[in-house]
Amino acid sequence: LKHFLTIDGLSRELLTEILDTAESFADMSGKQVKKVPLLRGKTIINLFFENSTRTRTTFELAATRLSADVLTMNIATSSTSKGESLLDTIRNLEAMHVDMFVVRHALSGAAHFIAQHVAPHISVINAGDGQHSHPTQAMLDMFTIRQHKKQFAGLKIAIVGDILHSRVARSQILALNTLGVAEVRVIAPKTLLPTQVRSMGVIDLQDMAEGLQDVDVIIMLRLQKERMNSAFLPSESEYFRCFGLTEAKLKYAKPDVVVMHPGPINRGVEIASSVADGPHSVILQQVSNGIAVRMAVMSMTFPAHGTTTA
Ligand code: CP
Repeated sequence: LKHFLTIDGLSRELLTEILDTAESFADMSGKQVKKVPLLRGKTIINLFFENSTRTRTTFELAATRLSADVLTMNIATSSTSKGESLLDTIRNLEAMHVDMFVVRHALSGAAHFIAQHVAPHISVINAGDGQHSHPTQAMLDMFTIRQHKKQFAGLKIAIVGDILHSRVARSQILALNTLGVAEVRVIAPKTLLPTQVRSMGVIDLQDMAEGLQDVDVIIMLRLQKERMNSAFLPSESEYFRCFGLTEAKLKYAKPDVVVMHPGPINRGVEIASSVADGPHSVILQQVSNGIAVRMAVMSMTFPAHGTTTA
């Protein structure tokens, strides 16, 4: 891998190799991650132009566990506030002998743009771009599903909520279909579904009772209000009544269903606290798994250690 920008176009073999590599960094509980010298002497800069709690910190921890030198730029206090362009910022950081940029940006395509303009030896990892893609989130979600369900074949997965604005959902759908699950259902009001939703390889439904029937995994998404026109914001109480995941609605799914959420969660809007904190929830395991999965992606992206080229 030269860069890791999207799940689109990646093979089942490569996605499986990422999951297997992540497993080599984590113990069976997925919580303890070994420190390894794979990226000693490499310099990684996290460029987060959008807020983050989970992705930014787990990328930092992953780089540290790989023995790289890592720093996270505080964009709010950088010279971008004095009018410096994105490319000039990148050029100046390149002059500090950087080997990798991890990029989050509110604009779709920002990580691709940077990847097209960096020096040839530099790798770029997409940590979320606009509504487009969040590929490492999708991979840690696949890792968590495999941890609990052992294999992807035969699984029925429901993704519930604001699909329209979700880069996570786009990346998850691509990964789930590539890994060969039986069925991906998306459950949302029509206003929160892309117009071409069926071309994404999913079944779209508007009813939780129908959509959650016999599913193995439920992935809840928050309403991405920062990407919505306020005139079209749904009422939170009405949304929770129709699409919020409660213990009562959980009964439609299989008895061993796992409940996932990429975070941040909005309790009482898309998910009840009793479900988010309940026995089916693996939400915090997803966060833990982010370290091993991001270690895998970073180590495979450096050509010296990678086993695959793309
Ligand atoms: N899931 C996710 O991307 O969370 P953060 O925005 O906190 O990084």
